[in-house]
This record gives sequence, C-alpha cells and structure tokens, in this order.
Amino acid sequence: MSIYLYNEDCLETIKRLDKVDLILTDPPYPDYLADEYCYHDKILDFLKNFDCRQLVFWSAKVGFPLDYTAIHIWDKARGVGTMYERVFERNGQKGYKVFRGQKYNNQLDATINRDVLTDHPSQKPIKLISKLLLDNSKEGDLIYDPFTGSGTTAIACVKYKRNFIGSEINTEIYNKTIKRLAEYDKQPVLF
Ligand SMILES: C[S@@+](CC[C@H](N)C(=O)[O-])C[C@H]1O[C@@H](n2cnc3c(N)ncnc32)[C@H](O)[C@@H]1O
Repeated sequence: MSIYLYNEDCLETIKRLDKVDLILTDPPYPDYLADEYCYHDKILDFLKNFDCRQLVFWSAKVGFPLDYTAIHIWDKARGVGTMYERVFERNGQKGYKVFRGQKYNNQLDATINRDVLTDHPSQKPIKLISKLLLDNSKEGDLIYDPFTGSGTTAIACVKYKRNFIGSEINTEIYNKTIKRLAEYDKQPVLF
C-alpha cells in the first residue's frame, strides 16, 4: 500500500492524477473560516473531472454546488437530540444513510473513541471516516482526499489497506499530519 501526502493546492495535485477509485473529502466552506482555509470560488469544480464515487462533507450555508446522487447524514449528537452535518455522494448510490460518530472536543473524548486529538479545528472522528471508507471502497483501492487536514482519511486508509493520495495546502498543518502518520505505528490500539 502507498500513502502520499502533498503540501500543495489540490488543483496542482490533480494534474498528476489519473484513475482514482474514491474521493472522500471534507473541503473548506465558503462561509466558515474562509480565510484560514484559502477558500476560492468554485473550489469543487475539479470534482467534475473525476467519474469515480465521491463523498463530500458539505454543511455550508450555500447549497452544494454540484450534482449528487444522495445526501447522507452524520449525526454527531451526544445523548439526546440531534446535531448533524451532511455528506453529499456523487456518482454513487441513491439511498441515504445515517452515520453516527461523536465529534470530540477534548483528549478524553478522543481516547474513549480510540483516536488521537490533533489541534486541527475540523478533525473528523476516525470511526466516522472509517465507516464511510469501508462502505465505499475495497482493499487496494486508491483514495484521494484533496483537503487532507489532520489526515483522518489517510490514517483510515493505512488501517484498512487502501492506497492514499492527499493534498494539504497549509504547511504547518501538513507537517503535523506527516508526524501523525509517522506516529500511527507506535500507537498500541487506535480504533
Ligand atoms: C475541513 S479541513 C479537513 C479536515 C480533515 N477531514 C480532518 O479530519 O482533519 C480542510 C483542509 O483543507 C485545506 N485546504 C484548503 N484549501 C486547500 C486547497 N486548495 N488545496 C489543498 N488543501 C486545502 C485546509 O488547510 C484544511 O486543513
């Protein structure tokens, strides 16, 4: 299995990509931390060039800008009530699913969920990403995450024997993610 993470704009990485089996990603939103995440208009347009299945987190106030086959729900509530985000599926199935997984706010949460807590503001729970990965790909597939962040998708790919390519534009985040990946093997039980 191979894991490649590039410290660059995803629009550069895709110039070198040929066939990908699954795109699983969590892009920056136009209306939330826009500056920090280097959001630029039509940032998802490049997804149209890939005819593979795509799962894209999108809970922005503006509508999802591309066509899609299903909208899945990530229910991240603690205890009673609901609190959810949406995951849009492209080129895939029509039936929607509900995925559960707590978003952790502290180390105790992360430990209970057998994950590591990074300081990335949008870190996704490893169990949630793993479920999406397992449901939509098989061993040996090539997964691309154009907005890698803290590397949750990459870690799930290592664990479940998928090949991975990622892009992260922010050098500080990129360096931390490389470290997280390097330390993965040293952790006794992750999830
Ligand atoms: C919402 S976060 C992803 C979080 C990730 N799912 C995790 O679990 O940590 C989006 C990431 O995309 C990065 N980013 C923003 N614009 C980018 C671009 N044009 N190319 C590559 N990465 C970009 C941001 O720096 C940020 O870390």
